[in-house]
Amino acid sequence: MCGIVAYVGPKQAQGTLLEGLKRLEYRGYDSAGAAVAGPEGLKTVRSVGRVSVLENMLNEAGGLSGSLGIAHTRWATHGSPTQLNAHPHTDTAETIALVHNGIIENYVALRTYLEKRGHTFYSETDTEVLAKLIGDLHTNNGNGLDLESAVHSALQKVTGAYAMAVISAREPGTLVVARKGSPLMIGLGEGSYIAASDASAIIAHTTQVIALDDYQVAKLTVIEGSAEMRTTTIDNVPVNPKVLDLDMSLEQIELDGYGHFMLKEIMEQPRTLTNAMRGRLDEREGRVVLGGLREYARDLVRARRFILTGQGTAWHAGLIGEYLLEDLAKVPCETEYASEFRYRNPVIDEGTVMIAISQSGETADTLAALREARERGALTLGVVNAVGSTISRETDAGVYLHVGPEIGVASTKAFIGQLAVLTEIALFIGRRKFLSQDVVSKYIEELTKLPDCIAKVLEQSDYIRDQTAKLVERENWLFLGRGYNYPVALEGALKLKEISYIHAEGMPAAEMKHGPIALIDKDMPVVFVAPRGSQYEKVVSNIEEVRARGGRIIAVADEDDTNIDQYAETVFRVPHVPEPLQPIITTIPLQLLAYHAAVIRGHDVDKPRNLAKSVTVE
Ligand code: G6P
Repeated sequence: MCGIVAYVGPKQAQGTLLEGLKRLEYRGYDSAGAAVAGPEGLKTVRSVGRVSVLENMLNEAGGLSGSLGIAHTRWATHGSPTQLNAHPHTDTAETIALVHNGIIENYVALRTYLEKRGHTFYSETDTEVLAKLIGDLHTNNGNGLDLESAVHSALQKVTGAYAMAVISAREPGTLVVARKGSPLMIGLGEGSYIAASDASAIIAHTTQVIALDDYQVAKLTVIEGSAEMRTTTIDNVPVNPKVLDLDMSLEQIELDGYGHFMLKEIMEQPRTLTNAMRGRLDEREGRVVLGGLREYARDLVRARRFILTGQGTAWHAGLIGEYLLEDLAKVPCETEYASEFRYRNPVIDEGTVMIAISQSGETADTLAALREARERGALTLGVVNAVGSTISRETDAGVYLHVGPEIGVASTKAFIGQLAVLTEIALFIGRRKFLSQDVVSKYIEELTKLPDCIAKVLEQSDYIRDQTAKLVERENWLFLGRGYNYPVALEGALKLKEISYIHAEGMPAAEMKHGPIALIDKDMPVVFVAPRGSQYEKVVSNIEEVRARGGRIIAVADEDDTNIDQYAETVFRVPHVPEPLQPIITTIPLQLLAYHAAVIRGHDVDKPRNLAKSVTVE
């Protein structure tokens, strides 16, 4: 998804802007650009493709000189990925330059209004409309408003979502940023400010940040070494934002010797899972300690219904959460795509709890579903990774994943963290209802063994790669599982299609007979997630059905399950764990399968085509 970096301070801006853009590359984008205001006025450079292309263009052009600048990576929404559509956009007088994430919904009306005032548009974007509108108010034939007031005034006319940063050749040392519905943070450096849509572009400079709320504008000024910040609403009412301390280090977002972030993040899961459980499991007392939920424990115990929501991988975690909450906390539960929930007319009664699951805490649909549920009186919890993100701030309470920043576009360690936290929540509630101390102590004991179990699966990475290589030319795959392992099948299929571009479908194993079985022939790889458990025999029957039709069977099975060998061409072995905890283990070989398939097929694993790490538009 689009990314913003903006800098004002004592240094030349270009280096900080490019470094920031590189840190945002993982979010997904198709073009990039930067603008700097300096002694030679305002200069803008834009390019299609990677940030490295922009960097080369800048070098060829002799660089951008000045200590105030904005930069952007664009993920096309309005208009194709071309140089003309790339940001920054400028106003007609070329006085201001602006970068923007989000969508201006009334851009057609605004464009017509501006055309009548004599402005001509060169791009297909909604962003250019915003640039021209602010520019119109700012310049106005020499009688314009100052930049901050022009932003206030323009944003009062705008509907839609924005995170934006704007600079003006007329106001050296002044950066104005604003936000509604799309994230924006301001890093407080030493005598400098670095604003960005994502903490990873800030962390090299400072851990002290301000996360703007919706409808807020910040004017950041650095003149002759003196730095000043003024934060207001778009109606110019001053606000006092809270300073947050970012919970991440630069090392956490570097490759650490791995070829790809995705592999690094898969391999570090024993540690990140430990982090997701640290301080939360009291085995002796048979208790789960979740400080973030303590205040709401009674409401959670009395809750009559849970709605879990999210998108993509987070939605898969929600499906597993549904099994966990029904099983361990004995409470009715349903999992909904956030994008569907928000546009229905959902029935929320007293006693409904919504759990919004999101790695980034910024997914537009998940945020909107959360707001909808809250508006209708639900208690809202967040299961979020990114500290200080919008979802974490807008929920009544929540539990952070603590798995560290996830850079690989295909989610891995965040998913495992989500499962750990959802298990903790289910035990937290269940213990206060029907689960005895002994039962919870047993689960805690099993949970604490999981990091070692994951490490054992990871040791098979080379074997999984070699087996994957035999099947990697096949263009259609099925992933099947039952019970707790049905959502794991969905997640396995999603991982494969996201990064290897192989068509894969996941579904409940029994559902195969109701149509998809027609696809099976001797060429089709079918992955069964089949550890021993209450439905093992039934899954084996499904395996036989596939075998009878010549399908190529890959099984994820318990390490001591020799029975499975007679059916499966390939077996990925996992340690046996209790059924509710199985997804945390059975997902791991499927992550490795997808990773190796993508690498063998020669794809850019961390930057898969058309995908964005965080989807902050509907
Ligand atoms: C995008 C990503 C997925 C992710 C989904 C939800 O589609 O590509 O990997 O699962 O968004 O993101 P969230 O940050 O809310 O977990």
